[in-house]
Amino acid sequence: MSDQPEKPFLQIVVCAAGVADDVGKLITAAQERHWDVGVIATPQGLGFLDAEAVEAQTGRPIRSAWRSPGEPRPTRPADAIAVAPASFNTVNKWAAGISDNLALGVLCEAPAMDIPVAVLPYVNSAQAAHPAYRQSLERLREMGVLIGSYEPHRPKAGGGADRYRWEEALELLAPKLSAPA
Ligand SMILES: Cc1cc2nc3c(=O)[nH]c(=O)nc-3n(C[C@H](O)[C@H](O)[C@H](O)COP(=O)(O)O)c2cc1C
Repeated sequence: MSDQPEKPFLQIVVCAAGVADDVGKLITAAQERHWDVGVIATPQGLGFLDAEAVEAQTGRPIRSAWRSPGEPRPTRPADAIAVAPASFNTVNKWAAGISDNLALGVLCEAPAMDIPVAVLPYVNSAQAAHPAYRQSLERLREMGVLIGSYEPHRPKAGGGADRYRWEEALELLAPKLSAPA
């Protein structure tokens, strides 16, 4: 599918976290609010979702690898970014300025490019208790990143997919945009 320049473009970044296979819920919610949607998955995240279903829904290939130098940019620039689900690993690497995959490269640059970013971490309480994680969230907040409210689930307890609010990404981004919410 070609770009839909009349619509704002939401880039969803998907990490390798338990609920990733439900990202279609966020795509649907965004499309209902008239966003053109694309998905970037981390290399690990690719294995956590149904790529065919996501590509059918967005009408675009999922991006995960860097383009080669000289290759054209595959999509239009994002008007907003939703990182959902965000893993412990990606939150910490992003906050530390590590850019060793496409998703992190996009995330590391977005705040300074004035692209609104909302992140919905999906982590357990043992991960959340790590001091580096708390510092990472604090640093992302200072960078202007909007952080979701999911309360970490107990480790090895099957997660909390039922209370993970995908639409919260759109709610957080809405006040930052003149376009749809
Ligand atoms: C089945 C499975 C489920 C996982 N679920 C989560 C999760 O919910 N949250 C999380 O932060 N990490 C989770 N992990 C660990 C991440 O997949 C791992 O840290 C990975 O390196 C993250 O890569 P990424 O941040 O590049 O996407 C899970 C791993 C496996 C194998």
